[in-house]
Amino acid sequence: MAPYRVGVIGCGRKGTGHARAYALYPDTEVVAAADSDPDNLALFCDRFNLEKGYGDYREMLEREDIDIAAPILPVVAHPEAVIACAEAGVRAIFCEKPMACSLEEADRMVEACRDIPFAAGDAYRSFPQLWDVKALIDAGEIGPVRTINLYQPTDEISGGGCQGLCVMNLFAGDGDIDWVSGWVRDDPATDADQGMGGCVRYNSGIEAFVHCQPSARNGIEVICASGVFFSDWYTFRLWRTADGNKPTRFDQLEEDVGRFPDSGIGDRSYDADGWRVPGFRNQSGVQSIVDALDNGTPPACPGSVMRDALEVAIAFRESHRREHTPVHLPLKDRSLRIVPKDARMYNKKEVQGAEWYADQIGGWTRS
Ligand SMILES: NC(=O)c1ccc[n+]([C@@H]2O[C@H](COP(=O)([O-])OP(=O)(O)OC[C@H]3O[C@@H](n4cnc5c(N)ncnc54)[C@H](O)[C@@H]3O)[C@@H](O)[C@H]2O)c1
Repeated sequence: MAPYRVGVIGCGRKGTGHARAYALYPDTEVVAAADSDPDNLALFCDRFNLEKGYGDYREMLEREDIDIAAPILPVVAHPEAVIACAEAGVRAIFCEKPMACSLEEADRMVEACRDIPFAAGDAYRSFPQLWDVKALIDAGEIGPVRTINLYQPTDEISGGGCQGLCVMNLFAGDGDIDWVSGWVRDDPATDADQGMGGCVRYNSGIEAFVHCQPSARNGIEVICASGVFFSDWYTFRLWRTADGNKPTRFDQLEEDVGRFPDSGIGDRSYDADGWRVPGFRNQSGVQSIVDALDNGTPPACPGSVMRDALEVAIAFRESHRREHTPVHLPLKDRSLRIVPKDARMYNKKEVQGAEWYADQIGGWTRS
């Protein structure tokens, strides 16, 4: 079978990483690229052996036969590009996160992609280790999930914290949320992204707590009736009772040592071809969008899940605005939004400066 034809829109730092993951994957091939920055586009075309790129992604969508569209853009450009790709008739879309500022934009993106696989974010949720744990929980090996603790001291709950929120929802079975109560770290009056914490009560009865204080613990803890799973996103650790009974003391739990490989996140080494070693997570995300096309399975981190993470974050802030009272989901006011930091919202070259940017984009390859 011919490989799926990938069109990358946004040939910046992250677009290059996604393209490398597609280039390495046997069933995908980067065939087209679009970027409004001619220098980024030229470098990308050179790196991925494309004869020509497009300054306007709409022209690329019109002229090229694309199976998987990869809009890896500043947030300000995401909604329009994702919707344009869906309307152009591509077969699948894998964009970046945060997917949008407002719930209304995120709703429109999800709706436009209702008939095709739509994934959002080189996401923690793509780690296969997490899916192995989920399968083990679903098989009843450590009893049902009771409580989830998410420790994320980020100052951007939408920009970076959406990663953990999507994993939290995974272990809560992506179930509907009854209510959310929360707080923000800085200013409840602003729509700007910031650190947030709170609690989430799912209709299933599962309770989740999002901790936003910087502390010695960072990651996710899933507490089941007879076992505990914890990941700091580098390692994946499981404790369970030997007999499957409910423990009354922590020392009745034994660690299942070495069951899950480490994630390798943050590896900055180079491979034999002179490319920075591509993230395990990004490669798993590519695998998941290919699986979605081949088998009809949902991608590991669908756009709808990323939209739901945005909704939880907005609900934390709305709760703070209402003196921390519980806020029921879904939120009725879909115009509510979180505005990401400038470096996510706009082109990084402009926000961070040309020198910083040259170093970043150059760092993908050793040359
Ligand atoms: N999942 C993660 O871990 C992760 C990590 C880094 C970045 N991101 C996300 O990836 C996205 C891109 O980040 P980046 O670091 O690559 O930024 P970047 O500034 O390096 O790249 C953005 C690229 O998009 C191009 N562009 C902007 N508007 C365009 C338009 N309308 N049409 C065509 N091209 C356009 C720019 O010229 C630039 O080349 C952001 O949404 C960011 O939040 C995610």
